[in-house]
Amino acid sequence: MTAARSVPVDDAITIAQLTKDPYSIYAQCRAQSPVLKVSAVGRILLTKAADTRHVKLHPEVFSSDDPNTPMERAFEAKTLMRRDGDDHNRLRSAMMPAMTPQTVKHSWADRINDICDEYIDRLPMGETVDFFTAFAGPFAARCVAEVLGIPKASDDDIQRWSQTLIDGAGNFGGFPEPFAKAEVANREINACIADAVKTCEGTDMRNALAVQVNAQEPIEMEHIISNIKIAIGGGINEPRDALMTVLYGLLTNPDQKSAVVESGELWLQAFEEAVRWVAPIQVSSRLVKEDTNIRGYDIPAGVVVMTSQASANHDEDMFENGHLFDITRKTSRHQAFGSGPHFCMGTHLSRRMLADVALPKLFERFPNMELKTPEDVVWSGFGFRGPLNLPLTLK
Ligand code: HEM
Repeated sequence: MTAARSVPVDDAITIAQLTKDPYSIYAQCRAQSPVLKVSAVGRILLTKAADTRHVKLHPEVFSSDDPNTPMERAFEAKTLMRRDGDDHNRLRSAMMPAMTPQTVKHSWADRINDICDEYIDRLPMGETVDFFTAFAGPFAARCVAEVLGIPKASDDDIQRWSQTLIDGAGNFGGFPEPFAKAEVANREINACIADAVKTCEGTDMRNALAVQVNAQEPIEMEHIISNIKIAIGGGINEPRDALMTVLYGLLTNPDQKSAVVESGELWLQAFEEAVRWVAPIQVSSRLVKEDTNIRGYDIPAGVVVMTSQASANHDEDMFENGHLFDITRKTSRHQAFGSGPHFCMGTHLSRRMLADVALPKLFERFPNMELKTPEDVVWSGFGFRGPLNLPLTLK
């Protein structure tokens, strides 16, 4: 039996480097140190697909309940994302009925179609727009606002709330400003939900607020509110970024674009490849509950491991040339929606919004849309990642 080794420590990698270009760092980690304590992040970074999956599938060892996370202060709640076992399952099950494939199909498909038509009608044919602000952000905000049951919230408010909650949850430095902004957002969200509850009570509406409020045995109101907040924080950036990523991937690979548009059937494949290629949520943390071992390295109880699903999705053991956007890949076993008990609740909704509705409609209206200067697109993000802009010429 070989003795377990201590995890190597890296003092060179910076958060700025990870924000700018995480993928080259992850490639090096996978080749040389797939289990690595990164001092700048203060966590043990796991970059191989088998390890990230293993961690998420074993919540009894790798807990989501990390008491030191700034998320609790930012959301003014211990959300379902920071809970394990029955405690987690109770809160998750309360909101899930609004997000199942059946509900998305029967209750939301028509509304998503209408929202998409309305927002596409606003786009100016023949002009170049920043697709981030012109469509991707507002479209994601409107769909999610309706599905959550807070339709009175404006697109701008929803986007600001989402970003503010995310910034607060990632405020590991404990800086006052992100928490102060989160406090304001929480006040506004609480008021918005309190108002929306009145519309939902006693109805058979299928939005996330209504299914929780009208359940036979409803969970406590504080948990209903924190469930809605987690879906605001975790449900806007990701479909927005995934939509821009898939457009970037298709428009910079014209042969793939033609194949998708001509077949009319490969939209889902293109969407899944985009989230594999650049995972909108790149990393997740878990608190180690008992001494364990990964790849022969000692992982003591009390440390926090950070799984990089972004890296897992480029792992050479799973994907050939993972750095390339390629809709013809044989395997689609990516981890962009996570794995295990915390698997993304918005997966079906996102597929409907983007693969079934937005992509076909956008290419139908603008069959010759162009990304003339892909080099102008700025990609950014370590925790969450996507393009910060997308200059599209609509033709
Ligand atoms: C392309 C779009 C999306 C991607 C790639 C994505 C990704 C993820 C990932 C990776 C997780 C797991 C995090 C972890 O294990 O710690 C997650 C959880 C979650 N997502 Fe998504 N997400 C997307 C869209 C959405 C949408 C539209 C909603 C809702 C409106 C949503 C709601 C949630 C919720 C509530 C959780 C927490 C589940 C739990 O802890 O049980 N997501 N998402």
